[in-house]
Amino acid sequence: MQDMDSKQFCPGEFWPDDQGIHINAHGGGVLHHQGRYYWYGEHKIEGEAGNQAQVGVHVYSSSDLYQWKDEGIALKVDDDPQSEIVRGCILERPKVIYNRTTGKFVMWFHLELNGIGYSSARSGIAVADRPTGPFQYVKSIRPNAGAWPMNVPDELKKPLDAAELAQMKGLEFPGNWVPHYPPHQIFRRDFDAGQMARDMNLFVDEDETAYHIYSSEENGVLHISQLSEDYLQSSGRYVRIFPGKFHEAPALMKHRGKYFMISSGCTGWHPNAARLSVADSIWGPWQELENPCIGTEEEKSTTFNSQSTFILPVAGKEDAYIFMADRWRPENAIDGRYTWLPIQFKNELPVLEWKDRWDLNFFAAPAR
Ligand code: DGJ
Repeated sequence: MQDMDSKQFCPGEFWPDDQGIHINAHGGGVLHHQGRYYWYGEHKIEGEAGNQAQVGVHVYSSSDLYQWKDEGIALKVDDDPQSEIVRGCILERPKVIYNRTTGKFVMWFHLELNGIGYSSARSGIAVADRPTGPFQYVKSIRPNAGAWPMNVPDELKKPLDAAELAQMKGLEFPGNWVPHYPPHQIFRRDFDAGQMARDMNLFVDEDETAYHIYSSEENGVLHISQLSEDYLQSSGRYVRIFPGKFHEAPALMKHRGKYFMISSGCTGWHPNAARLSVADSIWGPWQELENPCIGTEEEKSTTFNSQSTFILPVAGKEDAYIFMADRWRPENAIDGRYTWLPIQFKNELPVLEWKDRWDLNFFAAPAR
């Protein structure tokens, strides 16, 4: 267990906030704003009911990344049964970014409408004037309706015809690979209604352009999609990457001009091996690399028993990034743990290695 006044990270352990309560911000992301960090995540309750949104998005703040002050619920679920974010919906992986032009804090999250499992595959959007909220729910969308991906050949830029639709009828797509998965059809099926968007992240580039990265096309393909200038909608500019490879939990970073992504495979709440990929442009081409985890077979095949959620650049330190991951406990969701590990570089590639305890001085160490 991590102490309340600890100045260390203790991956996988109980992590108390300023009230001594285990931090409740699962599937989270961190915003650095005016010298303070804000950690947003799914507030979970006890038991399996905690796998649905019963409360909302919790926010904590910190000046040092070790000690976190409870700032309350940034976005509350609604009691109105007509609301898209009614209590009991699925609201996952919230991320917040700050728009310098509008001065607004913009939250995106994966939204599944109440009572229909994971079939909606939508993105929810909420806005606030302050980092701690309250966030006002704006709407949900299926991104990029009516827009073709930028990296598909012209012959694929047409909606499915009647025969293709008939062929697809009755096929089930459970969210992981199945032999009948068609790697280049589902974005065409969804052209009018918008693209499916489940596990997601946001990434703001040095030029303040923001991107939404999401598992699309029944989880079989990742999309990287530019947001509008106000960050409130998708722009219609997007690419498909790794068709048919089934990635979840994408997290992006930019290091010395290269974009790196750490993601996972699709095995529900069970951990699997992390995947690393790299590109010189955010639009690709993206190249898959080796598993970034080093250690025992067990550690490598389960990403230290956890799943990626965010990559946090440490403010004011060069080449310092924290890999944030979740160790899910679906049977008692509130007890999920956080695996924060330093990203190391070997041959200029990100590497993850288990640490029982570590602190930010790790990054100050001489040439690694
Ligand atoms: C894996 C995803 O990464 C999580 O966010 C969550 O959606 C679970 N699947 C649900 O099984």
